[in-house]
Amino acid sequence: MNILVAGGTGYIGSHICVELIEAGHDVVVIDDFSNSRPEVLDSIEKITGTRVKFYEFNILDEEKTENVFKENQLDAVIHCAAFKAVGESVAKPIEYYENNLMTTLIMAKMMKKYQVNSIVFSSSATVYGDPKVVPLTEDCPLGETTNPYGTSKAMMERVLTDVQFANPNMSVTLLRYFNPIGAHESGLIGENPKGIPNNLMPYIMKVATGELPCLGIFGDDYDTPDGTGVRDYIHVVDLAKGHVLAIEKYQEPGVHICNLGTGRGYSVLEIVHAFEKVNHVKVNYEIKERRPGDIATCYADPTRAKEQLGWVAEKTLEDMVRDSWNFLQKKKCFYYGARQASTDLQRRMFGQEIEQKYKIKIQDFQYDTFFNRIRSGDGSKLV
Ligand code: UFG
Repeated sequence: MNILVAGGTGYIGSHICVELIEAGHDVVVIDDFSNSRPEVLDSIEKITGTRVKFYEFNILDEEKTENVFKENQLDAVIHCAAFKAVGESVAKPIEYYENNLMTTLIMAKMMKKYQVNSIVFSSSATVYGDPKVVPLTEDCPLGETTNPYGTSKAMMERVLTDVQFANPNMSVTLLRYFNPIGAHESGLIGENPKGIPNNLMPYIMKVATGELPCLGIFGDDYDTPDGTGVRDYIHVVDLAKGHVLAIEKYQEPGVHICNLGTGRGYSVLEIVHAFEKVNHVKVNYEIKERRPGDIATCYADPTRAKEQLGWVAEKTLEDMVRDSWNFLQKKKCFYYGARQASTDLQRRMFGQEIEQKYKIKIQDFQYDTFFNRIRSGDGSKLV
C-alpha cells in the first residue's frame, strides 16, 4: 500500500515509517519538524535502505496538503501529526485546538475529496479519563479529560467517527496508545524532545546523563503498591507494529477502536529502578507533590488487539529501558568524540569513523565547519 504518515518524523511516526517500509509498504511523509528533526529522514533511510518521499509543511496549509493527495496515489493515511504536551496545552489551548483539530479536519476533507478511504488515528488512553476500573477495555466509557491536549484527542475521535458515519465506505481506526517508551534497537531513532521533557522516560534519561539534576516523582501516596503512579509502558516498536497490522487488517468499512498497551502496569519507582539496574546508571530522584490531572493507575486490556489484529506486545521492560538509553548514548558518544578530537589527526580519524558509521562523506574542506558546528552545540543538525 501507499501510505501517508502525517507527523512521520516524530518519535512515534518515525518508528511507524520503519515498520511500514519493512513490511513492504510505500511511505509518504508530511511533517513540519515542530517537534522533530530533518536528520530523522536519514536515520529511517539508514535503517531500512529506503528514502521516504517527504514534504515539509504544517497540514494546516490546506493547499499544500491537497497537493500531496494530488501527487500521490494514496491508499491510506496514518495521522499522528499533533501537539502532545499536556502542560503546554493548558497554557496554549487555542494553539492546541487549532493545530490538532484543524489538521484532522483538513485530512478528512482531502480523504473524502480524493477517495482515500482508510485512516488510522493516533489516539490516547487519555480519552478514558480517570478509569473507574482497570484494565481498560475499549468498551469502557470515555471519561472527563483534564487538559486541552486530552480533550483534543477525544474531539478528534468524535470528528472521525462522525465523518465515517457520513461516509460509510470509510474505515476509521482509533488506536488508543498507553505510554510509549523505548527506541529502535539501532539507536538511530528514538525520543528526543525539544526543551525540558514532560514525560517520565525522557526526564529519567536527562537526569541519568546529568543534564537535569533530579527527577521529581509526582506523589508517593497513590493507592498503588508503592504509592507512585502506575502506567502501561509499551515499547514504541511494538506500538509501530500495531499500526502496520491495523492498516492491513482494519480494511472493512466502519469505526474500529483498539487499545495498544501491554496489559501490565509498572509504577514510577519500578521504572526508575529497572532503568538503573539494566543500564548501570544512577537516577537521582525526590518525591514531590502530586501533579494536577494525574491518575493513580492506568493499564490496558489488550485482548481486542490480540483477537482482531493478532498483535501482542513482545518487548519487555528491560528492552524498553535499555533501548531508550542506547538511543541517547549513541548521540552522546558522537558529540563526546567530536569534542575530544582536538588535533587535526584526531579530527581526521574521528571524521573517518563517522563517515564509515553513517555512510556519509565529509569533504576535507568541510571538516572545520563540521567540528565547529558540533562544538557550538549545533551538532544535532548533523546526525
Ligand atoms: N512522572 C513523574 N515525574 C515526571 C514525569 C512523570 O513522577 O517528571 C510520573 C507521572 O506522575 C505518572 C507517570 O510518571 O505517574 C507517567 O507520566 P507521563 O507524563 O510519562 O505519562 P502520563 O501517563 O501522564 O501521560 C501519557 C502521555 C499522554 C497520554 C497518556 C495516556 O503523556 O499523552 O499517557 O495514558 F495521554
